[in-house]
Amino acid sequence: MLDLLIHNASLPDGRKHMSVAVRAGRIVEVAAGLQAPAHETVDAQGQLLSPPFIDAHFHMDATLSYGLPRVNASGTLLEGIAVWGELKPMLTQEALMERALAYCDWAVAKGLLAIRTHVDVCDPRLLAVDALLEVKRRVAPYIDLQLVAFPQDGVLRGKTGPQEHMDTLKRALDRGVDVVGGIPHFERTMADGALSVKLLCELAAERGLRVDMHCDESDDPHSRHVETLAFETQRLGLQGRVTGSHLSSMHSMDNYYVSKLIPLMAEADLQVVSNPLINITLQGRHDSYPKRRGMTRVPELLAAGVNVAFGQDCTMDPWYSLGSGDMLEVAHMGLHVAQMTSQAAIGQCFEAVTRNAARVLGLQDYGLAAGCHADFVLLQAADPMEALRLRATRLRVYRRGKLLAQTPAATSQLHLAGRPYSTACRAESIPRF
Ligand code: FE2
Repeated sequence: MLDLLIHNASLPDGRKHMSVAVRAGRIVEVAAGLQAPAHETVDAQGQLLSPPFIDAHFHMDATLSYGLPRVNASGTLLEGIAVWGELKPMLTQEALMERALAYCDWAVAKGLLAIRTHVDVCDPRLLAVDALLEVKRRVAPYIDLQLVAFPQDGVLRGKTGPQEHMDTLKRALDRGVDVVGGIPHFERTMADGALSVKLLCELAAERGLRVDMHCDESDDPHSRHVETLAFETQRLGLQGRVTGSHLSSMHSMDNYYVSKLIPLMAEADLQVVSNPLINITLQGRHDSYPKRRGMTRVPELLAAGVNVAFGQDCTMDPWYSLGSGDMLEVAHMGLHVAQMTSQAAIGQCFEAVTRNAARVLGLQDYGLAAGCHADFVLLQAADPMEALRLRATRLRVYRRGKLLAQTPAATSQLHLAGRPYSTACRAESIPRF
């Protein structure tokens, strides 16, 4: 007897009329037209069944703090940093946890079931670390939360000195933070940035941890920390376990240099996370016209075989007053900014918030295949392109075969003489002649 049988589903790879059978929290079979007794049977009515959305880059310690202690009036990166600096001394564990838990509620409603969040480790009290470790424990039944030790002020540059900063970061790892972070472009010099990459990668190698650095999140075409990150990844045998986040400088780099850099990144199996919503708003602020987009070279990296994911980065925090945990919105922006409008590229944008992001986090048993966790989202869309076009409603969200969230289908009632009574803006309703 199955626990759950979903039938008549469309899958992201294009297969139609598929059934997904679930027992004991795992997918046991994916095939067309399965018939078997089950405790619960769901007719997907031809809608898209996708593995859950995954956010490979987020800042949960700051999320939903919009307006505290004041609004970022200019909407710039620098004022955001100033607002965060004002808020940090006022943070309490309880408030931080409540905001993070509220965000996780939003995430579940949007079918977002795994999040890698950076957590600021410059506070010697490690208040945010302890709060997010507790959040991680509490949301574990419904969200995989992965924490990155992020030295926001620079591990070598920070006010209390390199030794104390490194010790605080190590204490965060001792307490259970999963991944080593960094911010080399924010260190005092290019040499210090390179040294921070070396030291932090060595620390990760010693402890058997993954690395995820904010790397070259700037418009400086001469920043070279991506190259150093790829080099240290190879030197220390960390291939596939190191992520470069943002990599905004690659947008502005000389094409000749990039033609050398991308193969080095591919050779090191460097993982890349781009954050389209944030980099389109925060980068290029010193430009007049034309204004640079500040997003890394996503199609070129994908073409070279580099794994690229999209991240949300911020939601209603000092840097970004918008956002809702909707990874389809993130992918929609990425698609536009990178001009990824071919049929294949639209599919790649969907993968950047599902399969590719799962690979960045190193999630096991993710996907729609026998043996995988029974985690999936039923979308009010026929295929990934329609899901992106509509930022489709998440009709049903499942984890380990259990229903976590439901949203009614989005349909507008119409009161127009001689026209249909309703529309959901679906492609299937378009006359084909
Ligand atoms: Fe970030």
